[in-house]
Amino acid sequence: MQLFKNLEELRGWRGQQSGRVVLVPTMGNLHEGHLKLVDLAKLHGDQVVVSIFINPLQFGANEDLDSYPRTLEADCQALAERGADAVFAPQVSDVYPRGLHAQTFIEVPGISELLCGASRPGHFRGVATIVAKLFNMVQPQVAIFGEKDYQQLQVIRLMTLDLSLPVDIIGMPTERAEDGLALSSRNGYLSTSERALAPALYATLQQLANAVGAGTLAPDIAVAEARQQLADKGFRVDYLELRRQQDLQPATPEDTELVVLAAAFLGRTRLIDNLTFTRNY
Ligand code: PAF
Repeated sequence: MQLFKNLEELRGWRGQQSGRVVLVPTMGNLHEGHLKLVDLAKLHGDQVVVSIFINPLQFGANEDLDSYPRTLEADCQALAERGADAVFAPQVSDVYPRGLHAQTFIEVPGISELLCGASRPGHFRGVATIVAKLFNMVQPQVAIFGEKDYQQLQVIRLMTLDLSLPVDIIGMPTERAEDGLALSSRNGYLSTSERALAPALYATLQQLANAVGAGTLAPDIAVAEARQQLADKGFRVDYLELRRQQDLQPATPEDTELVVLAAAFLGRTRLIDNLTFTRNY
């Protein structure tokens, strides 16, 4: 496996590739969920490039940019064992040569302001900008993203469509621990007691999806109950919302392809999760 620490090295290698290149964008601190993205990537092309870049543009002023775990060596070892072909781990100055504040950015309107976008202003602008830049740098034919960040995936799909980027976007179902907790780099911040509580987030989403999917509870009541259940267990709910899948606007009675999305704090750790389902009645 090759490691490229700057754009020039990456471009030199990319110019020699004739097959299909698949990109797996990450911020490092890799866990099994990321490695499953690599497994899927291998099925979609000839060369798998994993980018590892902690993107300052998508972190808010009070977020965990400084403390975000930086584990390049262990990440590269895991990726080599998993059969990735190349890692692209550029410096901030390479990615943002004119500085963060001068950077041209990409904003996907509407969807970027909802849900996580409301709690994290500017976050999806940072995500859309870095993903478009990574597409230009790596020039993949395919890119793989986890469905755990469902809103991010939809923002990237819309950006790719709006900018006519020649990249197929593939979503990968969320990888979970045995007790249902979605794998995330931020799970490492949870204390032992918080970790024991954390699976309740997904369990609550499942209950809601079952009830709304089968029509046994009205959506408004199911959402209110789910929020209350999480609060009773000790979560501080940032949002828990039932939306239609495509653009994440509030679901109307006519919408059948639905997603329930939640962000909730346990202590200082913000967990997110979601579940897509079809309303059958
Ligand atoms: O999901 C992530 O890890 C990041 O948001 C991404 C897509 C790599 C962009 O920095």
